[in-house]
Amino acid sequence: MKRQIHIVEVGPRDGLQNDPANLTVDEKLEFIARLEAAGVTRMESGSFVSPKAVPKMANSPEVFAGLNRGGQTKHIALALNETGVRRAIEAKADEINFVLVASETFGRKNQGMSPQDSADMLAKCAPLVHEAGLPLSATISVAFGDPYDGDVDLGVVGNLAAQAQRTGIAELALGDTIGAATPWDVKRAIDRVRIEAPDVTLRMHFHDTRGAGLANVFAAVEAGVDVIDASCGGIGGCPFAPAATGNVATEDVIWMLHRAGYETGIDLTQMIDTARWLESVLGHGVSSALSRAGAFPKAR
Ligand code: COA
Ligand code: ZN
Repeated sequence: MKRQIHIVEVGPRDGLQNDPANLTVDEKLEFIARLEAAGVTRMESGSFVSPKAVPKMANSPEVFAGLNRGGQTKHIALALNETGVRRAIEAKADEINFVLVASETFGRKNQGMSPQDSADMLAKCAPLVHEAGLPLSATISVAFGDPYDGDVDLGVVGNLAAQAQRTGIAELALGDTIGAATPWDVKRAIDRVRIEAPDVTLRMHFHDTRGAGLANVFAAVEAGVDVIDASCGGIGGCPFAPAATGNVATEDVIWMLHRAGYETGIDLTQMIDTARWLESVLGHGVSSALSRAGAFPKAR
């Protein structure tokens, strides 16, 4: 049997949170519906953060209220504090992804928290999510480098992972928010986190800021990680990271994986079509390779 790699589509959240375009609720819902039609089964569909901090996510409650709940897709809500977790539960998110931070200065600018503050906040919020009966995952942001402080200590990442495991998360993502990781860093971080948090499923979140995105996906898959974040078109970035660029593009990732014999359950042609449609809605081009070059061999 072919090995399955599970893609978490983050376009509607990470993808849109920093894009110059302001999508309406209906446009976001169409984007989400197209992704679902392409075969996406898990998706970050919005975030419940301060609308002053991230105006592009201000309409997330309306987006969640408008979702088609009859389909296969689980809609993940991002939250960084108790208010966000409560709002996400109220919006009937299928799952909550909590953001931890691995470094001081980015943590202050992004969420007003130190790494330990973010771990304490998760410990405070996790019981609310468990009581609501929802799956809880966490992402350690800037796990491979902070745009202000530079290199991040793997000891901090490991320590956050251990604390996160104790709160009962099911899955932990290591986030390369600013595209600082190399494939060798990825391997080292995975090895370390497996020691510190052996019971959680690992997931990886890469940005292609410095060109190593797909190589990092390869390193993670080779290291046995089965869950990868990606955004349609390769859009995205964090508003609190200078010169941020997009996530690894879903169509590029699935093309590479399918060619290697892995299954993702996502239709490549539909994902490329969605990336091209997205260009018309955003009013600018997207960065993925496959939306420009098309599939090889020609789409089947
Ligand atoms: N949703 C909506 N509003 C929120 C909120 C949430 N989750 N958390 C706090 N607020 C509001 C408060 O009501 C308060 O509003 P007021 O100024 O009108 O009284 C204000 O934000 C400040 O509240 P406070 O508890 O002091 O929060 P903070 O200023 O420390 O902000 C965050 C914490 C996390 C909410 C904020 O830094 C944030 O939204 N950051 C965005 C990070 C992000 O999304 N990054 C990209 C993805 S990782
Ligand atoms: Zn990201």
